Amino acid sequence: MSLLKRIEGSRPQNTPPGAAPVAPPPTEGGQQPPPPPPQGPLSQTATPVRDAMRDVRSALQTKIINNLDPRIDLTDVKAVRASIEEMFNRFLEDEAVVITRVERQRMLDGILDEILGFGPIQPLLGDDTVTEVMVNGPYRVYVERKGKLQLSDVTFLNDEHVMRVIERIIAPIGRRVDESKPYEDARLPDGSRVNIIIPPLALNGPVVTIRKFPKYRIQVADYVKFGTATEEMMEFMRACVEARLNMFISGGTGSGKTTLLNILSSFIPEDERIITIEDAAELRLVQDHVVRLESRAANIEGKGAVTIMDLVKNSLRMRPERIVVGEIRGGEALSMLQAMNTGHDGSLSTGHANAPRDMLSRLETMCLMAGVDLPARAIKEQIASALDVIVQISRLKDGSRKITHITEVQGMEGDAIVLQDVFIFEQTAFIDGKVVGKLRPTGIRPKFSEKFEAAGIRLPQGVFGDMSGISLR
Ligand SMILES: Nc1ncnc2c1ncn2[C@@H]1O[C@H](COP(=O)(O)OP(=O)(O)OP(=O)(O)O)[C@@H](O)[C@H]1O
Ligand SMILES: [Mg+2]
Repeated sequence: MSLLKRIEGSRPQNTPPGAAPVAPPPTEGGQQPPPPPPQGPLSQTATPVRDAMRDVRSALQTKIINNLDPRIDLTDVKAVRASIEEMFNRFLEDEAVVITRVERQRMLDGILDEILGFGPIQPLLGDDTVTEVMVNGPYRVYVERKGKLQLSDVTFLNDEHVMRVIERIIAPIGRRVDESKPYEDARLPDGSRVNIIIPPLALNGPVVTIRKFPKYRIQVADYVKFGTATEEMMEFMRACVEARLNMFISGGTGSGKTTLLNILSSFIPEDERIITIEDAAELRLVQDHVVRLESRAANIEGKGAVTIMDLVKNSLRMRPERIVVGEIRGGEALSMLQAMNTGHDGSLSTGHANAPRDMLSRLETMCLMAGVDLPARAIKEQIASALDVIVQISRLKDGSRKITHITEVQGMEGDAIVLQDVFIFEQTAFIDGKVVGKLRPTGIRPKFSEKFEAAGIRLPQGVFGDMSGISLR
C-alpha cells in the first residue's frame, strides 16, 4: 500500500465517497465490546492523566495528517519522518501543554508508528525479546517472552483502530478481510507470520496473531545450551539425517517444530538437491542447492489455490534428493508417505501432536483426508514402512522447549505399529517455576543403527547410554 493510502486510512472522517469504511462488522450483539474492566493491568494504563495525553496526541496526529504535503515523495520515508517531526514540534508548541521530555518522545514515536508503522503494536514488533504478539480485540494485547505469555500495556482505541492496522498488514499483499472472508493469513515485510480473524467470527473484536520472524536462528549449540537436547541426542539426530532416515517432528503449537526442522535440515550434506515445501517460507537452509516452494491460498474468487499436496506431487518430478515439508496438515500426508516409500528417503517434515503415538493416529487421519479409499491397515503399513524416526518436541510449563522423545518406528506387529523410544526426557520435579528432569537414552539401540554403519557413520561410544543420563540441574 502506498504511504498516502496508509495515511488516508488513519485520517478520521475522510473515507472517500463510495468506499467501504474500514470498520469491522459489528461484534456479538451489534455493539462495540465494552471497555476493559476498571481493575487489572489495564487500569494502570487508563488513568485520566494518560487519557488527556491521548486526546492531545490524537489532536496532533490529525493535524499532522491533514497538513502533510500531498506532493511529498511518499517512498522517501526519511523525509516523511522529518516532516512529521518538524510539524509535531511546531503544533505541540501551539497546544501549550506541559509535557516531560520522555512523554514528548513517546508521543512522537506513537504518531510516527501510527502513520508509518503498525500503530500501537509497532514497539512490540521492534522488541527483540518479544517472540509473538497476540491482539485479542482492542483492549487486550498479549505477548510471548521467553516462552511465556504476558498481558502487555499496549491498547488500541477501538475495533476500527485495530482494523486500520489490519488493513495496513494485508493491503500490500492484495488481500482483504470483511464479512464475506473474515479471516486471512499474511506476512509482514520482515517475514513474520500473521493470522487475522475478525467479527462476526471473532467475538472479542478483531484478533491478530503474529509469530515474529526470528532475527537470530537457534543453532545446534543453543539446543544444548538451552537444555532442549543433549549433545548425544544432537549427534544421534545428525546421524539419522546423514543416513537418510525419514524423520517426522511432532509437537504442539509454537513448541519449536519449524526451528528443529531447520536444524535437522542443516545436517543434510551440501551435495544433495533439497526441495523445501511450506505454507509460509520460514525455513532458512544453509546449503546452496535448495529449491524453495511455497503454497498459495485461493484468491478472492476462490480460485488459484496451490496446496502443499500439489507441491509434494510436483516436487517428485523435480529430481529431489531430499524433500523437506514445513508442516503436514491434511491429505498431503499420504503423498509424502508414498514418496518416502518409493525411494525418496531422507525426507523431513513436521506435524501437530503431543506424543509420538498421537502423531501416528494424526497421520492416519490425515491420510484419510486425501480422499483415497484405502483400508485402515494399508494406511498403517504405509506409515510403519515409511517413517523411521519421530522426534517429539514440547513447550514445557516453564516455557522451556525440550525434545521429550526420539522414537524409532520399528514396524508392524499384528495390527499395531511398534514404537521404541531411544531418548526421552524424564521430568522429576517442578521447583520455583522450573521444570527439573533428565534427558537420557533409554539404553536401547535402534534397529536401524546398522544403517549408520552402512553409511559409514560412527557414533561416539555410549551415545545410546549406560542409563546414567545427563542431568539438567
Ligand atoms: N529450543 C528452543 N528454546 C527456546 N525457544 C525456542 C526453541 N525452539 C524454538 N523456540 C522459539 O519458539 C518459538 C516458536 O518456534 P517455531 O516457530 O519453531 O514453533 P512451531 O512449533 O513451528 O510453531 P507453529 O506450531 O506455530 O508452526 C520461536 O519464537 C522460537 O524462536
Ligand atoms: Mg511451525
